[in-house]
Amino acid sequence: MTIFPILVAPDPILKKVAQDVSSVDDALRKQMDNMIETMYHDNGIGLAAPQIGISNRVLVIDLEQSKENPEGKPLFFVNPKVIWESEEMSVYSEGCLSVPEMYADIERPATIRLQYLDYHGKEQELEASDLLATCLQHEIDHLDGILFIDYLSSLKRNIILRKLKKSMKQK
Ligand code: NI
Repeated sequence: MTIFPILVAPDPILKKVAQDVSSVDDALRKQMDNMIETMYHDNGIGLAAPQIGISNRVLVIDLEQSKENPEGKPLFFVNPKVIWESEEMSVYSEGCLSVPEMYADIERPATIRLQYLDYHGKEQELEASDLLATCLQHEIDHLDGILFIDYLSSLKRNIILRKLKKSMKQK
């Protein structure tokens, strides 16, 4: 398996709308395996393909993996589509591997219903709430070229981008 370098904002690939996947084959499964390994390596809970420079509609999530539970519970989503969202909203302090060490409170629908293809290319439907709902919406945004900092005022966003530029220079 390959660990990929993760692109950091303001990389232009992160702003592109990703393409639908036409079939879930071995090459795509290999991409998903590499994505989940990369995500574990960087201690993330979600990763979207554009973050490793691949502009297709694939994302991986694992909310349970930890040192104590190394197997975790990897989830794979291909061509995910939100088909319903609740009026009730919830707020989480979000972070992102492409906006390292920066966090902000973001409000999103508390519950969503989703259609997608799984690791084997099978059509699935899922209702998600709490952290999973937030994480899915955050990752689907990546497929549409949206970062969580895009929900902030341009003033706040620019402060974060400036801090990011500074900290990347020091590395
Ligand atoms: Ni992210």
